[in-house]
Amino acid sequence: MYRTHTCGELRLANVGQNVTLSGWVQRVRNLGGMTFIDVRDRYGITQLAVDETCEQKLRDAVQELGREYVIRATGTVIERASKNTKIPTGEIEIQVVEVTILNKSEVPPFTIEDDTDGGDELRMKYRYLDLRRNPVKNALMLRHRIAQEVRKYLDKQNFVEVETPFLIKSTPEGARDFVVPSRMNSGEFYALPQSPQTFKQLLMVAGFDRYFQIVKCFRDEDLRADRQPEFTQIDCEMAFVEREDVLSTFEGLAKHLFAEIKGVEFSKSFQRMSYSDAMNLYGCDKPDLRFGMQFCDVTDRVKGKNFVVFDSAEAVVGIVAPGCAEYTRKQLDELTLFVQRPQVGAKGLVYVKLQADGTIKSSIDKFYSPEELKELATFMGASQGDLLLILAGERKRTLPALSELRLEMGTRLGLRDKNVFAPLWVVDFPLLEWDEESKRFYAMHHPFTSPIPEDIHLFESDPGAIRANAYDLVINGVEIGGGSIRIHDNGLQQTMFEALGFTKEEAEAQFGFLLSAFRYGAPPHGGVAFGFDRLCSLFGGSESIRDYIAFPKNNSGRDVMINSPAPIAQEQLKELRIALVKE
Ligand code: AMO
Repeated sequence: MYRTHTCGELRLANVGQNVTLSGWVQRVRNLGGMTFIDVRDRYGITQLAVDETCEQKLRDAVQELGREYVIRATGTVIERASKNTKIPTGEIEIQVVEVTILNKSEVPPFTIEDDTDGGDELRMKYRYLDLRRNPVKNALMLRHRIAQEVRKYLDKQNFVEVETPFLIKSTPEGARDFVVPSRMNSGEFYALPQSPQTFKQLLMVAGFDRYFQIVKCFRDEDLRADRQPEFTQIDCEMAFVEREDVLSTFEGLAKHLFAEIKGVEFSKSFQRMSYSDAMNLYGCDKPDLRFGMQFCDVTDRVKGKNFVVFDSAEAVVGIVAPGCAEYTRKQLDELTLFVQRPQVGAKGLVYVKLQADGTIKSSIDKFYSPEELKELATFMGASQGDLLLILAGERKRTLPALSELRLEMGTRLGLRDKNVFAPLWVVDFPLLEWDEESKRFYAMHHPFTSPIPEDIHLFESDPGAIRANAYDLVINGVEIGGGSIRIHDNGLQQTMFEALGFTKEEAEAQFGFLLSAFRYGAPPHGGVAFGFDRLCSLFGGSESIRDYIAFPKNNSGRDVMINSPAPIAQEQLKELRIALVKE
């Protein structure tokens, strides 16, 4: 028998019992008369104690042990003389009579401790060793628990889990597809799903009524801390629903998860905000509402004082940083450099300090009198001790830049506490987005998103002003999920395709199967997909979703452990009739 108990199980109540444990050697400490071995498995760590006066065979086995050796140990549970209050098994140890080495280990390339000396790349290369570490293991355990709770909640609500295929045709989520060549259909390719969007709509036509799936999605896009090329969605769809039905069902799911996983209860409904309010007040469609600092548009108040930056600007917008009037030259320079970073993209930063002694100091003293600045500060809702930070320029560049600055100030002021959660539904997104380069409209979500009924007439006159019946769930500035009520009427779908510049033939070629299905009784339907990895990192408190994925890719989309992507054999290429083009 390999084990009677796990390494996390034994307590004072077990004292006197004969037990056998199996696990990995975390540490061996030889203290002269006694040798202590920490043995670890998924459940915890138990201390083994070997007396110097034991049998030669046991002494030899202990002598040989090294880090990460796999062993089995048998002995008696005894109370420890010096207890370790930091671990649950810390009050006992095993007085060992037998140790068997089940497998040896090479010296691991980094220490397998909570705080490791291994860098990112090394840990990813030996991810199976990294996964032995508590923080990484616990992250995956959290992911498992969330998945179970999702299934429990949705099953109770009558959702049916249905798998959909991975070898499909391009799905319209707006990223690039990963493609897979078909051997049997030479010259043709499958695309991996960017989401199961079209299939879940077909399941509604099929009458499944409530569908869900915890499913891998694949998108070839630039990677960031919250983006992986393959990631997981909690994908859902419902029939015979309006927006309110979908929002209340999935607000219910989010609340269930908060209560079960974090012990956080939300007594009120989640806040709602229109896309246009989010943009005007926070400069982005996923505002972090853990703190205020709403934008204040001062464009009309600051012009005409010969300050060319403001006079020539389409928009002059500011925030009030509370209690920051004492910011030093150095701190203000840092903020200026921050907004000038290419990712932020502002030209410069204007500040106005409302100093504690009642005086005002600003970077625009030359153009505005103290009275004018005081008036501006009052308009912006600032009081003594506050700092005004103002950006000016083209509206579509200035608002996002100020949004970044607002987040930076939130971080600097400690207003973005990981244990505070501010959920928000952003609603009424624009249906269409104009692309200046290709001079055409794109669907902001995807082409099956329904317009808000009272805006349908705008397809003729002002397509850009049509609001979509779409919604995102945003928590702490992270887009956790998104969805919409879908178009289920063929005529409206046709109008939408026309607005997107598809000819009838093109629409038929790409989505004919869906349009055909819609001719056989499509029920009104809508749904949502949550980013499961993002949800895990929100609950776990880490910025990077990689921490919640067992075998993630790095920022170049590589798996450095299995060394993928990699070239394939000439034979395979030949079989697929693929010739590579030399750069
Ligand atoms: P959307 O494209 O908004 O909607 O995706 C839903 C959610 O998936 C997460 N997400 C990602 N997570 C990690 N890495 C990525 N590369 C990545 N891309 C997206 C986000 C996002 O909110 N079919 C629609 C849903 C619907 O309309 O029902 C869809 O896929 O958290």
